[in-house]
Amino acid sequence: MKEQPIGIFDSGVGGLTVAHAIKQILPGESLVYFGDTAHLPYGDKSAESIKYYSRKITEFLLNHNSKVILVACNSASASAFDSLKLEYCDKVIMMDVINPVVNYLGTRNFRKIGVIGTKRTIMSGTYDEKLMEKSPQTEVISMATPLLVPMIEEGFIFDDISNAIIRTYLSNEIFSGIEALVLACTHYPIIKNQISKFFNFNVEVIDSARTVSLILREALEKNNLLNDSGKVIDRFFISDYTSYFEKIARMFFEGEINLMKADIWN
Ligand code: DGL
Repeated sequence: MKEQPIGIFDSGVGGLTVAHAIKQILPGESLVYFGDTAHLPYGDKSAESIKYYSRKITEFLLNHNSKVILVACNSASASAFDSLKLEYCDKVIMMDVINPVVNYLGTRNFRKIGVIGTKRTIMSGTYDEKLMEKSPQTEVISMATPLLVPMIEEGFIFDDISNAIIRTYLSNEIFSGIEALVLACTHYPIIKNQISKFFNFNVEVIDSARTVSLILREALEKNNLLNDSGKVIDRFFISDYTSYFEKIARMFFEGEINLMKADIWN
C-alpha cells in the first residue's frame, strides 16, 4: 500500500502545479498523473460531461494502483468531486483542490476577496457557498476568466498578450479593495507572478498547490501510507499529445519525464 502512487488529474498542465508542490513537500512519493488534453478546456464543458470524464479517469488511476485520487482541477472539483467521493471513498483517499483552500481562508480574516476561475467553477457557485459557511464576514467577488486557460496552454506567459488579458480582467472595478485573490484554477499559478505584479504585490494571491500538498501529507501520515521504501517512479499520461504539455512538464520536473499517451476514451 505505502509504495502505491498518488493519482492526480486535470484537463491539462494545470494539475502539474499541484504535482510540483507535492514533489517538494513529499519527495518520497510516486505520482501517476493524467492530463485530459483531448477534452481541454474543462471550464467550458457541462457538469455532466466533466462528471463522466472524471469518473473514467478515476478508474484509470485506480487501475494504476493509486492510493489517493487527487482531483487537481477546480472545474472537476466543483462539478464532480462530491459524486466521486461518494462512489470511491471506501476504496481510496479522495481529495479535491477547493475544500483545502476554503478551510485555509476560514483561518484568515479577510474583509474582501476576489475569486477567479473557469466559467464552470464560477458558475457552480461552489466557492461563494463554501466561503459563506466558513468565513461569513468575508465579501466574495467572483469572476470567470475563461481566456486564461487557452492562453496558458498556448504558451502565452510573461508577454504582451498575457499582460493585456490579465490587465483587462483584473482592472475590473469590482475587484477594488480586495485583500486577497484566489486562483480558483490550477492553471493560474503558472502566471501567479504576473498577477501579483499587476496588483503591485499589495494583494495576497492564493493558489491551492501548497495547501493541498500539506493536507495530503497529513492524510498519508494519519493513514500510515507514507512511502518509506525509497522507490519513486513518476508517470505522466495525456489523452492527446501536445508538445506544450511536455515542455511544461519538463519545466516543472527538470529533465526527462515519462510521458505516455493513454487512449481511455475508446
Ligand atoms: N485547471 C483546471 C481548473 O482548475 C481546468 C481548466 C480548464 O480546463 O478549463 O479548473
